Amino acid sequence: MLATTSTLTVARTVDELRAAVDAAKSAGLSVGFVPTMGALHEGHQTLVREAAKDHAAVVISIFVNPSQFNDASDLENYPRTEAADFERAAAAGATIAFAPSCDEIYPAGFATTISAGAVAEQLEGAHRPGHFDGMATVVARLLGLVRADVAYFGRKDAQQLAVIEQFVRDLVIPTRIQGVETVREADGLAMSSRNMRLAQADRQRALALSRGLFAAQRLADGGEHSARALETAVQVELDAAALPTDYATLVDAATFLPVDVLDRECVLAVAAHVGPVRLIDNIRLAPASV
Ligand code: PAF
Repeated sequence: MLATTSTLTVARTVDELRAAVDAAKSAGLSVGFVPTMGALHEGHQTLVREAAKDHAAVVISIFVNPSQFNDASDLENYPRTEAADFERAAAAGATIAFAPSCDEIYPAGFATTISAGAVAEQLEGAHRPGHFDGMATVVARLLGLVRADVAYFGRKDAQQLAVIEQFVRDLVIPTRIQGVETVREADGLAMSSRNMRLAQADRQRALALSRGLFAAQRLADGGEHSARALETAVQVELDAAALPTDYATLVDAATFLPVDVLDRECVLAVAAHVGPVRLIDNIRLAPASV
């Protein structure tokens, strides 16, 4: 039985989701889709608002996908705030929330895993073995279930977005993928569900990520082309805040392979540990002359 609030239909099962999406499509509505793992914040709400600008029906999925966590304690501690999530989703314009159990997503007999390919090998792929295969598999299944016209993903997870664009292209999945700019707090911290696990002092130290990226941005705008110099600008801030770094690396924006010189569209990506919380952030950089 579908649960309906004044604006949000909550589907718990694949059959309920199918019924809700079929009803929207039969009514001639176009469908936007925002996949999430819940713990919604302004960044997710921005994705929903973007979807609602173009689609009368907006599906949000809320599912903490175990197969993309390579660290059991990260999965265990991932924030779960479902009641508030439904309110935030509805307030931003979602019309259908898909909040399934694990068995709905991975029923008995489920056997397929997407191998994400070269774009997934560096950065997050190198530090979180299996993460992108698990993420790609669940996103492919969700895209198949929702059958949206357009799906929206934040650019904070830039490599995730590149992996999704790759398999959607390769597997000819008929949903268009739309990237949406990173939403930041007023002081620059990129919004993330993991931020709610930061202690007050760590919240301050976490600013080193965006501060470093903005310093690199200024250097690039001033004509700096050396990857080493741009990466060092980030590392200096991380070191000053004593944040253990997984990477601060300039990569090609399409392949996510490291580059030595900023001579094309690139992504400067960073991952660092702030107390018990691992954060990622990035900015896109282009040579000043382009
Ligand atoms: O970015 C996320 O929240 C997740 O990786 C996603 C895309 C919802 C897949 O579980």
